[in-house]
Amino acid sequence: MSRITEDWTAAIEADARLDRPAYDVSHAASLVLHPMGRAAKPLQNALHGTWLGHPLHPVLATIPVGAWTLAFAIDSAETLGVEAGPATPRAADIALAAGTIGAVAAAAAGMADYRQVHGRDRRTGLVHAAMNTTALALAAGSLLLRRQGRRGAGRAASAAGWAAMMGGAYLGGHLVYRRGVGVDQADRSPEPRGFQPVMPLETLEEDRPRRVEVWDEAARASIGVALVLHRGRVHALGARCSHMGGPLDEGWVQDGGLVCPWHGSRFCLEHGGIMDGPSTAPQPRYETRIVQGVVELRRVPDPGDEALRPEEIAKEQQRPQPVPPPGARPADEVLFEHHELMRRLFERIADMSPTDPERRDLMRVLAGELQIHEHVEDEIFYPEVRPVSEDVPAAHAEHQQLADMLAVVLRLSPSDPEFEAQLRSLHEAVDHHATAEERSMFVDARRLGDARLREMGARIEAMLDEERASLARRSWRDLKIRLLEGV
Ligand code: FES
Ligand SMILES: [Fe+2]
Ligand SMILES: [Fe+2]
Repeated sequence: MSRITEDWTAAIEADARLDRPAYDVSHAASLVLHPMGRAAKPLQNALHGTWLGHPLHPVLATIPVGAWTLAFAIDSAETLGVEAGPATPRAADIALAAGTIGAVAAAAAGMADYRQVHGRDRRTGLVHAAMNTTALALAAGSLLLRRQGRRGAGRAASAAGWAAMMGGAYLGGHLVYRRGVGVDQADRSPEPRGFQPVMPLETLEEDRPRRVEVWDEAARASIGVALVLHRGRVHALGARCSHMGGPLDEGWVQDGGLVCPWHGSRFCLEHGGIMDGPSTAPQPRYETRIVQGVVELRRVPDPGDEALRPEEIAKEQQRPQPVPPPGARPADEVLFEHHELMRRLFERIADMSPTDPERRDLMRVLAGELQIHEHVEDEIFYPEVRPVSEDVPAAHAEHQQLADMLAVVLRLSPSDPEFEAQLRSLHEAVDHHATAEERSMFVDARRLGDARLREMGARIEAMLDEERASLARRSWRDLKIRLLEGV
């Protein structure tokens, strides 16, 4: 199936014959907007969804998708003779009408967005619009036929419209999820977290944006920042426009906002908020200061980002240190030892003959140890380390992935040829996860101080012992493993 849809979208994107009509449609929309003069801007902003903080078109598109699908379902039931109440056909008509109104609104918002796309995306946008317009015409025709009492023809028309809408929706999804149209394109790097000198103040001219770059070590990429001296103050916004990545440092200042040269989005110099669309996402913002004639900047954190700042880490380090039990080992050492145990188990299972009856037993031991390991990390280690390491969210996601892979391996018989391949994948995934922890998260964990690490290590060892010794915990794990095996 994906092959067919890939071929279809590829054929549309490569078809240069679509350029002419795509251009004409875009200009036809301009013919409506241009006579409106300055009033066109607020209308466009409203249609783009600048006020909403997200593109409006996909929001409105859910109305015809939902309502027409409901109408199609009711119509299909009626066609198949499924017994329904006398109000049922009326319900289909109402759903069809509601979807039609939503489709008109979605088309207006879609056309506003369409004017800014270019190249292959405009070709796809044209076919997307054509299919949805066909769907709209068929739905409107269907409503007319139903009014005339020709319900059979009306149902056929709206069913065809529903099919056209689904095709159009697929292309809309392609534009967003594959091509990133409507997706925030700004560079959201959390760097620099501390003030960094970037440029002598004297090189800045009033209202002339200048580009500077800062380095993001984790992403191994340089981040462009647009600096603007405006009314005696230096402002700094991300240089990559959130709309489609246009160069804001090549833009101009208008009414306290920095205008993108590509499609005219305007961002407030003070706080990066949107003053004019088509963009619907604010720009990343940087705090600035002048030290001995040099402009310094640091990133203003986005709400809820996962980035840790030096002051937060320092605060965590100032917490009182516990007194660990005598002889307690640091948590990273305990966990590393457990990683090694699991690595050895993987190797032993891989070396065993597929027909060895002990292979299944050892697989169960490994499954149990994996579950115990994830449990102690999720319960003790990760929550403690989270204030000093940015690796924790991804590590949680990897645990989920490992659990999914383990479920697949347990389902297979150790003598099944597929077992070897799945076991190898699981081994590699566990090894990747454990190695990443050892190289990065365990290193970060040392910021907590030796006493806290040892106190945590003691708790982890106690929990490991408890997990292995407790009859209730063992039985629960065995039951889960048996259920996963399907035995
Ligand atoms: S890239 Fe479109 S407005 Fe900036
Ligand atoms: Fe882990
Ligand atoms: Fe681990």
